[in-house]
Amino acid sequence: MTASVSDAALLGSAGAELAMELEAADDVPSRRDLFLVPDGVAYLAGNSLGLQQRVVRAAVDDVLDAWATSGVAGHFDGAFPWAPYHETMRETVAGLVGAQPGEAVVMNSLTVNLHLILGSFYRPSHDRYRIVIEADVFPSDRYAVMGVARAHGLDPDDAVVVLRPRPGDHHLRTEDVTGYLASDGSSVALVVLSAVDFRTGALHDVPAITAAAHDAGARIGWDLAHAAGNVPLHLHDWQVDFAVWCHYKYLNAGPGAVGGGFVHERHGSSAQLVRPGGWWGHDPATRFDMPFAFTPVAGAEGWQVSNPPILSMAPVRVSLELFDRVGMDALRSRSVRLTGFLERMLDAVATRRRLELLTPRDPERRGAQLSVQVDEAAAVTEALFADHRVRADDRPPNVIRLAPVPLYNTYEDCWRAAVALDAVLA
Ligand SMILES: Cc1ncc(COP(=O)(O)O)c(C=O)c1O
Repeated sequence: MTASVSDAALLGSAGAELAMELEAADDVPSRRDLFLVPDGVAYLAGNSLGLQQRVVRAAVDDVLDAWATSGVAGHFDGAFPWAPYHETMRETVAGLVGAQPGEAVVMNSLTVNLHLILGSFYRPSHDRYRIVIEADVFPSDRYAVMGVARAHGLDPDDAVVVLRPRPGDHHLRTEDVTGYLASDGSSVALVVLSAVDFRTGALHDVPAITAAAHDAGARIGWDLAHAAGNVPLHLHDWQVDFAVWCHYKYLNAGPGAVGGGFVHERHGSSAQLVRPGGWWGHDPATRFDMPFAFTPVAGAEGWQVSNPPILSMAPVRVSLELFDRVGMDALRSRSVRLTGFLERMLDAVATRRRLELLTPRDPERRGAQLSVQVDEAAAVTEALFADHRVRADDRPPNVIRLAPVPLYNTYEDCWRAAVALDAVLA
């Protein structure tokens, strides 16, 4: 059936039927029932803000109840005492990013974590001081690395190297990065890249680029904002030095949710790395003795600074539990099929409307997000919602992003999005 449906028929009822068939046949079912989906909306913006898991309210209520009934004793009493709250996520957050327990921690926000960890890892010398980023990096990362270069008295225009895609390409190729590191890597102290590009959805070859950075004598940190909960990650085995991410996109932990940080175990106890310093990064065995000297706890937890916002940690906890239950490999297999179906639908639209797919065609080089270039993307995005209840988002200059999230999106959502796009572009 799949191969026999024509492009025009896909955009009609035959496409809807096919979507239903594919949904029924998929051996990794959608977990849509666990989420609050805005009424009647085909929500394809989970790469921006994931939907609310139904259990979030109860998880937050539990914290409010413990606070109401126990007051300060809640730090140490109850089902999820607050003092070791981050420790209850030690295993699940490690599982999410392919870390050993203790290499990853839920803390702060993405850019804050980037600053905290850069502060330890960026130690420029006379000969090795450059930070490599890419042209399309999310602006926050660019501001952060430029700020850090400036803080060391360096000129960011010299210290920060911006790699650009080849003319006509929409994203950097692996060999563009590894080639640069092989030829010019001797002055590079640090590489900071996004595993999944926020604009095009392209997925870097994280292990290959990590190895190339190490061969050049540099360290590498990955921004996993669009990768965590989207693609399988093996940060420990890939020897990644550090990584940072958020939990409000594919992790569904709510607007501005607490983020994450990873520091490889070979650095986690290193006395050479200066930790930012704060009582929550201090050894918990003596934290409440309030000793004079700072003794960082081993692992990423040593980069914590303040005691965490427990009300905001609760949605992260239940999200990580869900990912742990379902498994990233199962989600990824559904994601590849779902995104492939959306790609096929968008190709059908492209046979009759002006639309170009910017995301790589190879499923190995992308996650759940497909980005298309259209004229007047902002107006098209608005019409998608106003006229068709399809929630996508747009990014300058002319990009619409659509992310079928395997936990709660369906093949029908993909079909609806393409049919709506076809109608709006007509
Ligand atoms: C790729 C990427 N990096 C960094 C950020 C900034 O995250 P935060 O505001 O949590 O620091 C975002 C936010 O959407 C992002 O998409």
